[in-house]
Amino acid sequence: MPTDAERSLAVFPGGSLGEYDLPPGDVLVLARGEGARVWDTAGRELVDFTMGWGSVLLGHAHAAVLAAVRRQIERGSNFASVSEPALQLAEELVRAVACAERVRFCASGTEAMAYATRLARAFTGRPRLLKFEGAYHGANDVGTVSLFPRELRDFPEPEPTSAGFPRDAVAEILVAPYNDLERTAAIVERHRRALAAIVVEPLHRCTSPRPGFLAGLRRLADAAGALLVFDETVTGFRLAYGGAQAYYGVRPDVAVLGKALGGGYPIGAVVGRADVLDLVREARLGEPGYVWFASSLGGNPVSAAAALATLAELRRPGAYERLFTLGERLREGLRRTLTEAGVVAHVQGDGPLAAVVFTDREVVDYRTAFGSDRRRARAFLLGLFRRGVFLNPMSTKLYLSLAHGDFELARLLEAARAALRDAP
Ligand SMILES: Cc1ncc(COP(=O)(O)O)c(C=O)c1O
Repeated sequence: MPTDAERSLAVFPGGSLGEYDLPPGDVLVLARGEGARVWDTAGRELVDFTMGWGSVLLGHAHAAVLAAVRRQIERGSNFASVSEPALQLAEELVRAVACAERVRFCASGTEAMAYATRLARAFTGRPRLLKFEGAYHGANDVGTVSLFPRELRDFPEPEPTSAGFPRDAVAEILVAPYNDLERTAAIVERHRRALAAIVVEPLHRCTSPRPGFLAGLRRLADAAGALLVFDETVTGFRLAYGGAQAYYGVRPDVAVLGKALGGGYPIGAVVGRADVLDLVREARLGEPGYVWFASSLGGNPVSAAAALATLAELRRPGAYERLFTLGERLREGLRRTLTEAGVVAHVQGDGPLAAVVFTDREVVDYRTAFGSDRRRARAFLLGLFRRGVFLNPMSTKLYLSLAHGDFELARLLEAARAALRDAP
């Protein structure tokens, strides 16, 4: 009888749904999750520091989300039309997110970013997008170009991380170093007539923006007549209820939301200026700027109900204080553990996010992280995984949730101590 791991390896490339590069001996199949823990089909319990790539900010199987979803599925799961929960959710997004005058839903961050960049190109009538090296914006062209570049070409030359995109699509993407306003300004200046948008993860993976960097991007975009697009797939409702634009005080023209918004159910949203979003109005079909935007499952009432329940929990007093305190305790605990083990590393992150980069340099962008000891990072993450910490061993980003507490933090730090002892 094959094991569940063997069955998974037989049908899924790498035994994975994507981005879980585990050695075959470590592949597992999950049976269930509750709070901040998951169990595999062999009954092994793991503490979860991935939390569905950050999509389950309240914790697995949260009672309020369960109740909302149960209520909705009795009434129908998808109409591909505006429903009461979708309408309420869009109204809440307009209240919560500074740049949101209009909303359109789809089913993932990848889709939402593809629409956001298409809107920017259509609105400006220009072809190029500027992104930051190492940034992820989903499995589309702008997300995968120079995502994990190896050659470190001269800026702004793009380096595809994924095959399968036409050369022209890659060539229209300009790549800049995050946190370097001067070099970004020089690239924008050189391409200003062709630039549709500056696209940025406000918190770049786990690297914080230097003071003034995001405000500087706002000015550069305005001066070039380009749009500023915030990819808030990760930061939305995580760094603050109003997302990174509230947290850092910089308002983009368009923002993309996903992950935490859906409470673990499929969702993506493009929000932003009415004059940009209104390009998708079907009555404009045939006009030069019209953008096709359609998604069979976008805004489905089950995801919308899960999102409304999630947002209600996040609006409760103390929710963000708790997420931030947990994040600080995690980062401090990791720093202490690394110091005690005599290992030089940089612990990054903000809010309920953390990452360990094995370097003695300050990490400000992709290249400062690229120069770190990535072999050691991989050994550390696999060491954690093998000690019962469920995480993505391909990247060091750790996601916390409101369900995390002393137990999970202690388990992670204990596993970290052992992993550092065994693979120093
Ligand atoms: C910043 C950012 N943008 C976009 C995406 C893509 O979102 P999805 O996986 O929902 O397609 C991700 C996913 O990790 C992300 O981190």
